[in-house]
Amino acid sequence: IMARAESSSRLKFEQVAANDLDTITVPKEFDWHIVSTWGEPLWSNSIPFDQTTRGTAASQELSVGDNNDGMALFQDGDKNILVSNNEYVNQSIIYGNRESRKPETADDVNKGMAGHGMTVTEIALHDGKWAIVVDSPYNRRITANTPIEISGPARGHAMMKTAADPEGVLALGTWNNCGNGRTPWGTYLTCEENFNGYFSSSDENYQPSADLKRYGVGNKDWGYAWATVDDRFDISKNPTEPNRFGYVVEFDPSNPKSALKKRTALGRFKHENAELVVADNGQVVVYLGDDERGEFLYKFISAAKFIEGGDNSSLLDDGTLYVAKFDDDMTGKWLPMTPETTGMTRAEISILTRQAASKVGATTMDRPEWVAVNPNKTEAFVALTNNKNRGKKPNAGGDEAPVGGPNPRAENQYGQIVRWTPANADHTADSFEWDLFVVAGNPAVHGDAYAGSKNITAENMFNSPDGLAFDASGLLWIQTDGNYSNKKDFAGMGNNQMLLADPETGDIKRFMVGPKECEVTGFAWSADRKTVFVAIQHPGEKGNSHYPEGGTTVPRSTVIGISRKDGDAIS
Ligand code: FEO
Ligand code: CA
Ligand code: CA
Repeated sequence: IMARAESSSRLKFEQVAANDLDTITVPKEFDWHIVSTWGEPLWSNSIPFDQTTRGTAASQELSVGDNNDGMALFQDGDKNILVSNNEYVNQSIIYGNRESRKPETADDVNKGMAGHGMTVTEIALHDGKWAIVVDSPYNRRITANTPIEISGPARGHAMMKTAADPEGVLALGTWNNCGNGRTPWGTYLTCEENFNGYFSSSDENYQPSADLKRYGVGNKDWGYAWATVDDRFDISKNPTEPNRFGYVVEFDPSNPKSALKKRTALGRFKHENAELVVADNGQVVVYLGDDERGEFLYKFISAAKFIEGGDNSSLLDDGTLYVAKFDDDMTGKWLPMTPETTGMTRAEISILTRQAASKVGATTMDRPEWVAVNPNKTEAFVALTNNKNRGKKPNAGGDEAPVGGPNPRAENQYGQIVRWTPANADHTADSFEWDLFVVAGNPAVHGDAYAGSKNITAENMFNSPDGLAFDASGLLWIQTDGNYSNKKDFAGMGNNQMLLADPETGDIKRFMVGPKECEVTGFAWSADRKTVFVAIQHPGEKGNSHYPEGGTTVPRSTVIGISRKDGDAIS
């Protein structure tokens, strides 16, 4: 008997159809389960999640934070430690204030602050399902009030000094922790994104500086009201406080007492993730996106080299930051940002990174989200999620955003994924070749450039690629954070979702669909590669979901595990 020929595709699962169900949909060969849920206690002295009040500041301090995003799984001996970012809080949900949808008391504000940051939990496998180990010594919450050392070129600079910290060396908290990274020396990197939305001014006539405006800091916050409990969020009283946020923060999750450090050498902007790769010569390269319409794509190259088993604790404090310039001939350059090229000091480049990048002539991008490096080939990918302003207007105080190059469409509502190949297969090289790996679109609605590239069909279409990660087999996982209306330009796309792509062939298949009004973001794999962990963020953000518990329950962000029914490894 002849064996049936193997399918030539490496995407060996039956594609999931788009849908708008209020649950998770995976291919029929797979199962999923919930690993952790917003408000779930980490210690037995917290209280279980309360569906009516949604807890207090005190209970939130001792429970899983809200809106999980980037994450990573670490091993310490036979223990598994999951670190997940808690990007922000859903204001219409977390306070339990159904009319105002805003914080009404100081405890509400403090609960919001405690819902941000990171959650570190030991997890363990029981009957095929991963769950939190309550009271594990690894469990830890990091919030908007956790002390964090300022490290690298900006440490002690005048722009980093505040009344509460006259030396400019110790910030309080990390928030809007979006994507992540991890290092080969066992640490986690969390990336501060929309840090601006938490600052406000008690003096409505206060004039924020041009430098603050470039970062979107103004007299009104985004509703969190943090300045009502702490003056450091009032820019008319503490105008340098915002300079202490917008960084990549490093810490060791396997030591629950480890210090956290803001690695200012990696620049200050709306950091998405930090994709780290050790170049052949041992230097550490970190690719970094600034998720703002018309801002830039960066890379950091360490001055020193990674030493296996050595002391790598200062590697991310000293190096050179570069910004990408894409040329129309499908080549590009990494432009160094140094005192010579910018006329700024290294500290100033670290604090006012956007301004430095504008001085060297970088290419404005359609909102760079996650960067992923192929483990099997010297190439990298960045998700450019969308940009309604492309061809219309620049970011405040930023550069023009003309249509062209890696940003080929005006009023780009769908997004694209750009690939680049470093010269000489060397991630430290200062030039590269690039192409568009996929241009998202809707071929059922449009017949022009808005239909998308050839690898987009009515069956696999999506919008707003965001999370990107490679698995061990060299397949690219794509997550979306886009328009889930399923109407007009987005008809047939359904809820936000996760897809797999083969970088060799360009084939893309939908692997998972999330519940209503969520975004799908963040990846981690178990050591045996049998479980992939994925974050479901802000289900029901507009009030139309009861995921995960159903009925009339409060919608809650979760980390889920997906595994094969036959128990085999996924990648
Ligand atoms: Fe937090 Fe740009 O996504
Ligand atoms: Ca994102
Ligand atoms: Ca996004």
